[in-house]
Amino acid sequence: MSHKGETATSTYTYASNGEEQTTRLAEALAGLMGAGSVIALDGDLGAGKTRFSQAVAKSLGVPGIVNSPTFTIIKEYEGVRFPLYHMDVYRITGREAADLGLDDYFYGGGVTLVEWAERIADLLPPDFLEIRIRHTGERERDIELTPHGEPYETWCRHMKENGTL
Ligand SMILES: Nc1ncnc2c1ncn2[C@@H]1O[C@H](COP(=O)(O)OP(=O)(O)O)[C@@H](O)[C@H]1O
Ligand SMILES: [Mg+2]
Repeated sequence: MSHKGETATSTYTYASNGEEQTTRLAEALAGLMGAGSVIALDGDLGAGKTRFSQAVAKSLGVPGIVNSPTFTIIKEYEGVRFPLYHMDVYRITGREAADLGLDDYFYGGGVTLVEWAERIADLLPPDFLEIRIRHTGERERDIELTPHGEPYETWCRHMKENGTL
């Protein structure tokens, strides 16, 4: 996905050898998130988009279980500091997406996680963190992070410096 006014896009990779390692990345990111954070998740069915979202939810203090919102498109949860908006736009059509009023979530007071985000690429805000998960083995996943704008570029630099990435 490209970003308006972007010159060079850096991509960071994180090799996960199991769910616990994916959880650690989710926890590190959750610690950086704030109201208005938007995370675009892509990757084939079973890649781990929902598993990653569940770990973010837990880190944000969302009680209970966060399931895939495939049939509801958007689910809202109360976190400790701000709400979590969890979307799965796999089945959405362009017209439906336009009618959902996604900007109310993106620019609202919470964190938005979007599974299958590339399907609504045109509707994403200009600044977001792109996360692409690739199956490389039964438990192995290559997780590619591409920051589009701030604060996501700073997040990735920070995680690179502290050894998370
Ligand atoms: N390293 C890993 N990171 C994330 N999930 C993993 C990993 N290894 C195995 N899994 C498993 O892969 C599956 C991912 O499913 P899910 O998160 O629902 O995928 P998606 O939402 O991308 O379709 C889960 O059953 C999870 O336990
Ligand atoms: Mg899912």
